[in-house]
Amino acid sequence: MSSGLSERDALSINMTTEVTATAWDSRLKTYASLKIQEVEKFTVVVITDNYYDSLSPDVHFARRYRTSPEASIHAEHGISFYVETTVDNRTYGMMFDFGLDPVGVIRNMELLNVDLSRTSAFALSHGHFDHWGSLVKILKHNKSKIKKNTPLYIGEETFLNRFSIRPSDNVPTDIGRLKKEEIEELDIVKIVEIQNPTEVIPGVYLTGNIDRVTEYEKGSPNLLIKRGDKLEQDFFQGEQAVICNVKNKGLAVIAGCAHAGIINTVKHAQKITGEKVHVVIGGFHLINAVPEIIEGTLADMEAIGPDYIIPAHCTGFEATTLFAQVMPEKFILNTAGTRYVFAG
Ligand SMILES: [Fe+2]
Repeated sequence: MSSGLSERDALSINMTTEVTATAWDSRLKTYASLKIQEVEKFTVVVITDNYYDSLSPDVHFARRYRTSPEASIHAEHGISFYVETTVDNRTYGMMFDFGLDPVGVIRNMELLNVDLSRTSAFALSHGHFDHWGSLVKILKHNKSKIKKNTPLYIGEETFLNRFSIRPSDNVPTDIGRLKKEEIEELDIVKIVEIQNPTEVIPGVYLTGNIDRVTEYEKGSPNLLIKRGDKLEQDFFQGEQAVICNVKNKGLAVIAGCAHAGIINTVKHAQKITGEKVHVVIGGFHLINAVPEIIEGTLADMEAIGPDYIIPAHCTGFEATTLFAQVMPEKFILNTAGTRYVFAG
């Protein structure tokens, strides 16, 4: 709770006017220089993730999706969230990241009752295919439901071609690029690129470009970006995470992949809001990380002291089990299809 209004004033929060909901437009200016908007309720639906277990117990605020004949959740190497806020007894929805396989993700959306007619915004964490792979087909499939020109928020360099040097491989593999022209041809959403913290639906913010403050979260030399003719290490300068301030609880921080470093991401969320952290959810990208990075992350996460920690997606088995061992009271095992409800 360190910062006051003057620090927040200096944030130059990017209050875009592209949000379509009329009631919301009138709120934008109101919050431009105030503390981050609190929400009465924040719901996070994990549409897809790397792991699914129908028998995982419900714990705390987590409700699992139970399979039934011909109705199972699809898991994959990808992640996708639907989030919903309740502010002044009104609800607002947003989809954050879109998973990989459109058949599985669209099926999961149906099973989980994710209705895009209630969605006021879309947002993408970064330009890797396990986050945007299903995007175009989701938009096409839901064209009649999505309000025209609903914003799709992205960060810098989202559309550049990415490469990866995979384990046991020496040469970079082309892992593709999200094609801006394909999205524009659909004529459904309006692409909005941001660099600064931005409120995207009432009570839900994107981080803007994330400050790098830790010594050990330096990215991976195996992840590359093509700028012109050059392949360079990708530092994901435009990567975005989601922040929501739940009344009487604190911040919920959702990371897509946390290539910026999950500690950098959470510290950035704290810096721009001045709030304590209630829960951290998402991909922490600790798969294949050297022990020093995992140890540093665990130590710093303990120091930050969220009430709950929910590693998912690219966190990797080793780091996930270490979180479970080191902070067992805080740890929640994610499984695709889980609905988390945080209420003040
Ligand atoms: Fe990822």
